[in-house]
Amino acid sequence: VVYNIRAARTARDQWVLRTLSTHEPDALHTQMPIVWDSALGARVQSSDGRSWLDWTSGIAVTNAGHSQEAVVTAIVEQAQCGPLHSYQFPTEVRARFVEALSRLTGLQQCVLYSTGAEAVEGALKICRLHAQRSSRAGSVIISFDGGFHGRTQGAQYVGGQSTQRAWLPHNDADYIRLPYPEETVDTVSASLQRELANRAIDPDHVAALIIEPWQGSTLRQLSVANARALRTWCTEHGIPLILDEIQTGFGRSGSLFAFHGLDITPDLLLVSKGLSGSLPVAAVCLADRRWTTYVKRGELTSTHGGNPVALAGALANLALYADGALIENAHAMGTILQTTLRTWASDNCDRRQVRGTGMIAGVIFFDGDGKADLDLPRKLVHDCAEQGLLMVTPATMGGAMVKIMPPLTTTAEELDAGLQIFCNTADSLLSEQVSAGVRQ
Ligand SMILES: Cc1ncc(COP(=O)(O)O)c(C=O)c1O
Repeated sequence: VVYNIRAARTARDQWVLRTLSTHEPDALHTQMPIVWDSALGARVQSSDGRSWLDWTSGIAVTNAGHSQEAVVTAIVEQAQCGPLHSYQFPTEVRARFVEALSRLTGLQQCVLYSTGAEAVEGALKICRLHAQRSSRAGSVIISFDGGFHGRTQGAQYVGGQSTQRAWLPHNDADYIRLPYPEETVDTVSASLQRELANRAIDPDHVAALIIEPWQGSTLRQLSVANARALRTWCTEHGIPLILDEIQTGFGRSGSLFAFHGLDITPDLLLVSKGLSGSLPVAAVCLADRRWTTYVKRGELTSTHGGNPVALAGALANLALYADGALIENAHAMGTILQTTLRTWASDNCDRRQVRGTGMIAGVIFFDGDGKADLDLPRKLVHDCAEQGLLMVTPATMGGAMVKIMPPLTTTAEELDAGLQIFCNTADSLLSEQVSAGVRQ
């Protein structure tokens, strides 16, 4: 078994780990064997009374904190009054939710789903249907190296990590992945043209371009100039620009959506995670009705899309963003987080590199030969958890990065407490490595 069952301190937690190990594949067990009993605000508790600051936010879901009171109340009220479910029959909560989401995003329409990957699949289908039925010359999808869009088949075809695509048939030539634009504005349009020309693809063959404004896996970011260049290129060629803000949305970047800081608007915006801050809700938001002109009735339905209980929670969650206080705090705390980590890393910049913006940061460690150190992040996550701080090393970066995503409600004291644990623990591990004779 992957879980160390003996690490659990109570008989009940041992039972939980043993049962999960028996009835689930080990491949699912990617986090530390800490059995969550309850979670509130920035903290998670176990049944034996231990408590952790949660710097994962359930991977950018609980942006407004765990078990946020208004969200819990709305979920309970909807569950008590019902309905618990409706398959595409209209409900008041759905009408109120799509109206609120359109107001918040500034985009006219939306299609509701349950998970991020489902929204990605939905967006690709909308764009390909549009391309086919409006007689565009092809249905190529452009995406970018390093990107992550989920684990379903279409989402992995547009994913930018070749190891994660190894299980897929290699014969779908209609997905092409280009280098993530890190260069100057001229080079982005030129490199798009060049890459397409190398593959003998005319821009008329392209059905959509999908990109994360900053990548949740690598934490690389689009510059304003590159974002504008992509926007212009898509508009000139009639190609819908899909922004995947499933991870960056709802304040993670320090603004409500990352595209707000890039001076562009998407044709399709994908949101999930922080959208509800709780139950599974995802959406494809559409700037313009024209992208769905050719989609026939029934072609986009999903059994649990628009679940009334999930939407009641999500609606209450959206209201938390209305007065701007959450984003203001995210911006202020994000500035402290980024500055403190970068100052700390600059003392030993050969061995640690900080990436990120706002309330998401990633720290990559290097060994004395300048190679990514895959051992230290794992130990750091373990040792920090022993001291009350939860983090992850995402599989998407092969375990090379420790990812930091505190809730946006984090106070200055909570942030300081977490930073002290993080920096001191990383320093001790590095000194241990050095004294153990690891070459610097
Ligand atoms: C940018 C991005 N897109 C899509 C997804 C997939 O979302 P889900 O896990 O809900 O399918 C993720 C998940 O981490 C993500 O970060």
